[in-house]
Amino acid sequence: MSGAEKVVCVTGASGYIASWLVKLLLQRGYTVKATVRDPNDPKKTEHLLSLDGAKERLQLFKANLVEEGSFDSVVDGCQGVFHTASPAILAASDPQLWYQLSKTLAEEAAWKFAEECGIDLVAINPGFSIGPLIQPTPTSSMKVFLELMNGSLVFPDGIYNFVDVRDVAHAHIQAFETPAANGRYCLVGSVIHHSETCKILHKLYHPSFHLSEKDEDDKPLRPLHKVSQDKAKSLGISFIPLEVSFRDTIESLKEKGFLTA
Ligand SMILES: NC(=O)c1ccc[n+]([C@@H]2O[C@H](COP(=O)([O-])OP(=O)(O)OC[C@H]3O[C@@H](n4cnc5c(N)ncnc54)[C@H](OP(=O)(O)O)[C@@H]3O)[C@@H](O)[C@H]2O)c1
Repeated sequence: MSGAEKVVCVTGASGYIASWLVKLLLQRGYTVKATVRDPNDPKKTEHLLSLDGAKERLQLFKANLVEEGSFDSVVDGCQGVFHTASPAILAASDPQLWYQLSKTLAEEAAWKFAEECGIDLVAINPGFSIGPLIQPTPTSSMKVFLELMNGSLVFPDGIYNFVDVRDVAHAHIQAFETPAANGRYCLVGSVIHHSETCKILHKLYHPSFHLSEKDEDDKPLRPLHKVSQDKAKSLGISFIPLEVSFRDTIESLKEKGFLTA
């Protein structure tokens, strides 16, 4: 079906993943009802309003997840809702743990609600998303990248599940447009050790940036796990190569003035 007559909602539209989603949806001819918490904040809206097709088919709405009923009138009449908004954790002893718990509970609640209300739900679970930014400020995953490039971050024995943000946005749309799509889709393009991340960044950018060349300690590396790509590939996702994602992320951060060689 063509997107011309389709109206969809994107929540948290000014975010890293959602901005790409809005861009691709507009490209495909959708009318997009985009929610942000503050439609009067140009940092949250200007990059969306300047996208191709935005003048004709993008509408901005104010909505906040912590306000009951805030999204009701926006999603009313939409054929699909891409729910990416996620409340930030302001204070916690272990923010990563609380983040993971919040995501698990939110997804459980979504499945329960979908079943009770007969909603056709698909969950997209991306890994550490990288790739170019559309929005003017770096998201938290981009901040980690900036620290890597500035040499201020050294992980002892980290393992990353990387995926390109463009693949994540594309997968959301494919999941919406593919009638057979169902259940959960884990999106991970590459699983690599931190040391391997450093090697790739070195190859691409040394000596332009001060990169740490090795891990903090010499302990043997933990074995890598695998994340099956079969289900994601069934949506037509072919995964952008990691080196391309790294390079495009860094070029984007440079272009926006967050990194200087
Ligand atoms: N980036 C990753 O590596 C990654 C990996 C796995 C899963 N995810 C998940 O994917 C989603 C998008 O991630 P992202 O990296 O694109 O995040 P992001 O850039 O931080 O965007 C999240 C958006 O959530 C909105 N938001 C926060 N609190 C809200 C509230 N109370 N009510 C309504 N909106 C609220 C913000 O909207 P305003 O701008 O209006 O304040 C923000 O634009 C999140 O659910 C995240 O947990 C991300």
